[in-house]
Amino acid sequence: MSATSIDLITARGVRKRFGTREVLRDIDLSVPARSITVILGTNGAGKTTLLRILGLLESADEGTVSYDGIVPGISTVTYDASTRNPAQDPHYLPLRRQMLLAFQHPAIFSSSVLSNVTYGLQLRGMSHAEAEERSMAALHEVGIAERAHQHASSLSGGEAARLSVARALALQPQLLFLDEPSASLDPYGTKLLEDLLLHMRDDLGMTAVVVTQDIFEARRVADQVAFLHEGRIIEQAPRDDFFTHPRDDRTRRFVAGELLV
Ligand SMILES: Nc1ncnc2c1ncn2[C@@H]1O[C@H](COP(=O)(O)OP(=O)(O)O)[C@@H](O)[C@H]1O
Ligand SMILES: [Mg+2]
Repeated sequence: MSATSIDLITARGVRKRFGTREVLRDIDLSVPARSITVILGTNGAGKTTLLRILGLLESADEGTVSYDGIVPGISTVTYDASTRNPAQDPHYLPLRRQMLLAFQHPAIFSSSVLSNVTYGLQLRGMSHAEAEERSMAALHEVGIAERAHQHASSLSGGEAARLSVARALALQPQLLFLDEPSASLDPYGTKLLEDLLLHMRDDLGMTAVVVTQDIFEARRVADQVAFLHEGRIIEQAPRDDFFTHPRDDRTRRFVAGELLV
């Protein structure tokens, strides 16, 4: 990453509790523009919660998240613990329109596969014809074009994951958040997804935050890796440094495939 690249997202001192359990503890994270940031960690580390906060679906209890240079004409948008419900707050709508979140179990609307892709485009003002054309091209790219007119609920897990990627390709948001995108994909689907992710970064200038437990996936796609363990980011580093010179012993053991207890 070049020293001049700007950080699109900057989280500082983010904390989140569920009841008395502190799930995120003092998170500092920077997401450089036009790069892939992987949040790596085991089950229950807090990855999904962190992604939901960065993706404006949930507010933090403490700390701030700022978004720079994303909304045209507005340099910085910040939200903090005083924002109770960022997902519903109209103030954040222009920012939300520049983002797409894809979760492990993708939210699928009860309609055709094609409508699931065109929906987001039409919501952003695109004509029906243009939205369909772009959506069909995206369904082709992910290999499920022949499913376009099928009901989306009839897709297999792997096909549903491809549908999420098609939405991203059609919409080309500035920020893409993916939660364990390859969890339900076979090796072929995983390779396709990872190639498309690199294409979105390199050719479409998109910025992605990808959550995974898979160190091999992190190695293949990450520009930088943040290792989340028990709600703390233990280490954040460019990919090669992270894997070849981990500074923290827990990172070193995780990367070596040892169980962290
Ligand atoms: N809405 C919620 N209410 C209560 N506890 C939650 C909620 N969401 C997540 N948690 C808890 O927070 C911890 C972190 O969850 P999560 O962010 O889903 O971890 P990960 O994605 O790394 O597996 C887990 O112990 C989980 O049970
Ligand atoms: Mg999760």
